[in-house]
Amino acid sequence: MSNASLAPLYPPTLTPPEVPLGTLRFLKRCAENPLATIPACAYSEPVSSVEPARGFRAIWICDPDVLEQVLVRDAGRYRKTPLELRVFAPVIGKGVLSSDGADWRWQRRLLAPLFRPSEVLSYVPAMAAAADEQIARWREAAHAPGQAVRHCIEADMTLATYAVIVRTMLFGGAPKDVNAVMAAGKSYLEAIPWVLAYGLLNLPSWLPHPAMFKQRRAAKAFRKSVAAIIEDRRARSASAADDLLGRLLAARDPETDAPLTDALLVDNLATLLEAGHETTAKALAWTLYLLARAPHWQDLIRAEVAAVVGTSRIEARHLDQLAVTERVIKEAMRLYPAAPVMGRTPTEAVDIAGYHVKAGEPVYMPIYAIHRHKLLWDDPNRFDPDRFLPEREAALKRTQYMPFGGGPRICLGAAFAMVEAKVLLASFVRAARFDWDGQHLPEPVSRVTLHPKGGMPLGVTLLDEAPTRPPNVLLNS
Ligand code: HEM
Repeated sequence: MSNASLAPLYPPTLTPPEVPLGTLRFLKRCAENPLATIPACAYSEPVSSVEPARGFRAIWICDPDVLEQVLVRDAGRYRKTPLELRVFAPVIGKGVLSSDGADWRWQRRLLAPLFRPSEVLSYVPAMAAAADEQIARWREAAHAPGQAVRHCIEADMTLATYAVIVRTMLFGGAPKDVNAVMAAGKSYLEAIPWVLAYGLLNLPSWLPHPAMFKQRRAAKAFRKSVAAIIEDRRARSASAADDLLGRLLAARDPETDAPLTDALLVDNLATLLEAGHETTAKALAWTLYLLARAPHWQDLIRAEVAAVVGTSRIEARHLDQLAVTERVIKEAMRLYPAAPVMGRTPTEAVDIAGYHVKAGEPVYMPIYAIHRHKLLWDDPNRFDPDRFLPEREAALKRTQYMPFGGGPRICLGAAFAMVEAKVLLASFVRAARFDWDGQHLPEPVSRVTLHPKGGMPLGVTLLDEAPTRPPNVLLNS
């Protein structure tokens, strides 16, 4: 189905800065929105080098072949950047996302089985139950059937995806105070631009910034709550449970046969709790925003779900047939990739597209700019899910579209996230209509994940034909 006859939608984007900015202006802009420091050349040149502030070089890689070289062919010659570690370490320590080399490899091997396609599909009932719960919350908030209520969709999606991750990853071990964990995670992320700005300017990490003490407290609170989950599980001697935590507790180092240290257990659980819900929540919030701006795509999804699923609960066998739903999610993740920038640094000096890069010097792969690159996409800022029609998608280079990254460090939860996004989106659009107020133009702001500035207020109207809430199948009951 084509949307060619309908008015094209150009949703909010960013105006790149003039470079170089002075150091103070760079700091200010970076603190407000690190993504808004990506220069114009990153949207128009294959590989470019600029000084974001005087004296600091940043290399932006946007060419699919060069990306393939860094992420895939020569992956073993690169590491995560010290800046990323500086950003993440206080919360997720040296877990699978923030370690390198042998430390990374064995943790990845340990966790990978949990994200096999068969495992992921077994989580569909828990995902559908989380979607139903969110719909029930909307239903409770509506004063009369069919009445529109404005909701902060960003917060709602965070709640829904957090429920999914807790139920699928921590059977029976959910933290007692879910809100405290979420609040601590949010508070930590809010202060990250300062860490980024200081790191980019090579300022020492002990140098105070306005959010430093609040952020330290948030990191400590988050890790304390995660450690409490592990203690709780041990106290109930339920380590044999075949969920993530059970597997982590049973895991042994293939070389030394040593168990994961308590610190590494906390690191990986924190990683999966945070990486496993924040990103998908943001992807769904942006998707619903685009659907509110393009109601005909809502209608198409609604018709598809009605034809494929009817009014029964969404099951794993339906997913392959939800093609329109999938196209919309993919296009939303093109325009608003939940993880908008990746960085790497070579372990020894390398040549990248003619640039001599010293060992330890960072290079950046701005997924946000790659997905809107003038050389790679036709009319890049236009919302057009038909870009992902099978024959058109097949013509894309694999590093031209990479919301989940690429190479050996590709997102561990990519399949999980796609299945979850499909189940949740299909359930929500079947049950409700999402309306834009005609005014809110949220700037995409990077807080590691891609936030909508000013939140994502949308009108939610539950539709009469929405199915009644099926019996609760929560896994942590
Ligand atoms: C829309 C949702 C998601 C997006 C856009 C996303 C994006 C990404 C990206 C771009 C990376 C690569 C970072 C790099 O190479 O520097 C990554 C890594 C990772 N993601 Fe996701 N992610 C999503 C959902 C999830 C979920 C649901 C989980 C777990 C349940 C997860 C767990 C991880 C982990 C553990 C890594 C580190 C992998 C490694 O370094 O080996 N992500 N993600």
